Amino acid sequence: MPSNIDPIDRRRTFAIIAHPDAGKTTLTEKLLLFGGAIQMAGAVKARGEQRRARSDWMKVERERGISVTASVMTYDYDGHTFNLLDTPGHEDFSEDTYRTLTAVDSAVMVIDAAKGIEDQTRKLFEVCRMRNVPITTFINKMDRESRDPFDLLDQIEQELQLHVTPATWPIGSGRGFLGCYDLFHDRLVLMAKGAKGALPELGETCTGLDDPKLDRLLPADAVATLREQVEMARGLCPDFDLEMFREGHLTPVFFGSAVNNFGVRELLDGIGALAPSPRPQPTADRLVDPEEDNVSAFVFKIQANMDPKHRDRIAFVRLASGHFKRGMKLKHVRSGKLMNMHNPVLFLAQDRELAEEAWAGDIVGIPNHGNLRIGDALTEGEDLRFTGIPSFAPELLQRVRPDDPMKAKHLGRALEQLAEEGAARVFKPLLDANWIVGVVGALQFEVLADRIRTEYGIPVHFEPAPYYTARWIESDDAIALKSFQDGVRSAMAEDHDGAPVFLARNAWHLDTVTKENPALRFLKTKEQTA
Ligand code: G4P
Repeated sequence: MPSNIDPIDRRRTFAIIAHPDAGKTTLTEKLLLFGGAIQMAGAVKARGEQRRARSDWMKVERERGISVTASVMTYDYDGHTFNLLDTPGHEDFSEDTYRTLTAVDSAVMVIDAAKGIEDQTRKLFEVCRMRNVPITTFINKMDRESRDPFDLLDQIEQELQLHVTPATWPIGSGRGFLGCYDLFHDRLVLMAKGAKGALPELGETCTGLDDPKLDRLLPADAVATLREQVEMARGLCPDFDLEMFREGHLTPVFFGSAVNNFGVRELLDGIGALAPSPRPQPTADRLVDPEEDNVSAFVFKIQANMDPKHRDRIAFVRLASGHFKRGMKLKHVRSGKLMNMHNPVLFLAQDRELAEEAWAGDIVGIPNHGNLRIGDALTEGEDLRFTGIPSFAPELLQRVRPDDPMKAKHLGRALEQLAEEGAARVFKPLLDANWIVGVVGALQFEVLADRIRTEYGIPVHFEPAPYYTARWIESDDAIALKSFQDGVRSAMAEDHDGAPVFLARNAWHLDTVTKENPALRFLKTKEQTA
């Protein structure tokens, strides 16, 4: 395909969703092979290897150099520009993962052929469904003993309520896995032995399943099974329907073996041909079309301490419209100030590079000292407020203390930074010297303790706190707000921005206080609009 097609049309911004161990890292590596990003592919692999030692995954998070470079990978292949966003693969609920899925236009769902749909796949799929993100399915590890392809398709259809259309059909499985028949292009693609690092062959073009070529190239029983199964599959599954796919109701299914680099070309061609280019982005007032001339963008992720020597952080920004150029000035809508984009970063697969230009659908890293927050908009002047970037109410609250009490002040600063990054909510009670930390998944406490120790050099421990939940309070009546705060000082705190927060002891406490103070709004998240 010529590469001079419209720069927005040619972009595919996507993420891979998978249960840990299904093969996301391996598939990422192979996808990058096609972009010629072999060096990077090695880095992804190295990270995958470390991650496999499960207890070690926090160490992996610490290897920020690698994980950050790998959190967005941009590569060109066959006339398309692919932006692959990494979704962190922890088994615990991860806010970052959910936010990342707000920045993509489609997703690849990787399923282990022996295991079928697993917990994390299901959860991530639900997030995609909420936003009607089109899903392309890759059934991986066909070289191992696997479940019957009909069972797997049926499970997707039944459990995810998603229509399925096989795009390729596997020939055999396990040791007897020979390859696939590409149903969209009538091509026989055989698995070459020992081709792990090479780009696979395009396959043998056929005139259809009746082509005698198949009888020459495959054992007789394999051809017979293939013909029979495809006929059944065609009878059972709907024809591929682009509109249904784009609306998130139907998924094309590819079979393959990532570790053998098999089926990956077909998958990538499928994403190029079928997955949507950058989609319009919702804001409070209107949809922003990617083809609009003016640049607009939103922050969906913040990463601090990428370089331990510098206390800067990078805001990951998804461009919603326009043609972004280095050096341009954009309005930071929340503060109303102009920001100079003098050193934006593009995440080319090989390395980080200064971004000279970028288009709608691209992800750009903006180094900053903390003024950019998740959900913030950057525009050429318009006061846009992007919606749909999820914010999570902290459900678990604990007190955090430094092992060395002299470090309390440093701890406060570390917590503020982590809160700005969106890694946790932090609250400073008015009558207690210790900070309270709010998260949504219990494992996040461990991750935070680990990060505070390694990134800030402060060993800390978490302990139970007598609070049930937190509510940000707002009111149009300043006097009512003040008198409420004065009346319940022992339950009042401030968040990292100094905004007032009510810490309820239990459900009854919250309920009573809410009823007794109708002039106040008790918000579950700071971003929530009443
Ligand atoms: P993840 O990122 O989703 O957690 O999965 P990852 O790619 O790390 O793969 C998990 C394991 O599955 C790895 O094995 C990987 O080699 C293997 N794997 C991935 N794709 C395939 C495939 O198509 N076929 C087979 N047979 N295995 C596959 P490991 O033993 O944990 O590590 P390694 O030593 O093999 O690298």
